[in-house]
Amino acid sequence: MSSTRFLTGITTSGTPHLGNYVGSIRPAVQASLTTGAESFYFLADYHALIKIDEPARIQRSTLEIAASWLAAGLNPERVTFYRQSDVPEIPELTWLLTCVTGKGVLNRAHAYKAAVDKNTATGQDPDTDVNAGLFMYPVLMGADILMFNAHKVPVGRDQIQHIEMARDMAHSFNHRYGEHFVPPQAVIEESVATLPGLDGRKMSKSYDNTIPLFAPRDQLKKLIAGIVTDSRAPGEPKDTEGSALFQIYQAFASEEETQALRRAYASGITWGDAKQVLFERIDREIAPMRESYEALINDPNKIEAILLAGAAKARQVATPFMGALRHAVGLRKLGDQPLGAPKKAAKTALPSFKQYREADGQFRFKLVDAQGHLLLQSLGFESPKLAAQTIALLQRDGVAALAALTDQLQPLPVDASKVGAALALLTAGA
Ligand code: TRP
Repeated sequence: MSSTRFLTGITTSGTPHLGNYVGSIRPAVQASLTTGAESFYFLADYHALIKIDEPARIQRSTLEIAASWLAAGLNPERVTFYRQSDVPEIPELTWLLTCVTGKGVLNRAHAYKAAVDKNTATGQDPDTDVNAGLFMYPVLMGADILMFNAHKVPVGRDQIQHIEMARDMAHSFNHRYGEHFVPPQAVIEESVATLPGLDGRKMSKSYDNTIPLFAPRDQLKKLIAGIVTDSRAPGEPKDTEGSALFQIYQAFASEEETQALRRAYASGITWGDAKQVLFERIDREIAPMRESYEALINDPNKIEAILLAGAAKARQVATPFMGALRHAVGLRKLGDQPLGAPKKAAKTALPSFKQYREADGQFRFKLVDAQGHLLLQSLGFESPKLAAQTIALLQRDGVAALAALTDQLQPLPVDASKVGAALALLTAGA
């Protein structure tokens, strides 16, 4: 596996809007066409179940999102494009990862914590209306990513914590069971705009301020007419700064087109005309895709076949990998040869002091290095306490203590630098 693997998921909880297009669909499709990278794009329908309990909406959203990606030019031959719930290895891996993930880590996940904080603030039980799916969200997402050992995961800023958790899961699993997973990295496209919505806030379903990507032409026009503007009159110069209309335009227009609109703002274009310019610019880009979108939406079986072929491709990776992971954790055929005797991960060996009592009734200690080689050997002490005090002195002062201890130590050839290194290691490891 030499090329870089990109992977990203889209929750099937709604209708794609212009913000999704500019922020994720368009850059992903472009990347899949231009780079030699291996890309995995999938419809995260298990994730959608966490917040949506309307079956028809899940199904409709899956159809719409798949059709949008395909209409925007995603070539399913060049990428692996699939539906999460068609890959049963993903929920299976979710369980293995669940068992190496600290509950405390999940307690700190933003989405779960926000729900708990909200309940607490309103005096309710912390977990009111919080389903366990929300709590487990990051583990399912970790399985999505680690299943295909993706190196890079393009996501929005709000998802960075989830990628970090996936890295932690990879490390915990690898630590226990050997190197199986690549710790993934989030990719945040700094150059990709976050689109404002109709009311000027970030375009998002939760603000109900979106413009659906494939709204029919007349509806698109109507929605654009509803974008907030200030009350400047025709002829009055207008501010591009803070203008939602201008920002949306910029996300579609070339540099020259953007400059032209900037000049028009300065010379007092009417808001009506500016909206017309925006409408035409968006429609120019979207219209050809809208046609293929309509055709796809009306042929759900075609999309179904594309997704199933994608899942088959994904499972060529997932099935054998899951087999190896099952074996690694010990879910094995009983006749299988174990790969080795069960062993605990070896603790990093450290030098140590060993205290003991000899036949003469005296107490002694020695210092040995990590390999067990003798570094220091004491003479006899009357009590264990005296031996321990001498050890404490060595631990506190290091080799500097040696000069004062000639009467307590056997006159072995002492390698001061080895003793110093061992004492330093001991203090650091304590
Ligand atoms: N949680 C992501 C979102 O809401 C969607 C998602 C699910 C995802 N699984 C993923 C993104 C794996 C990247 C990788 O945007």
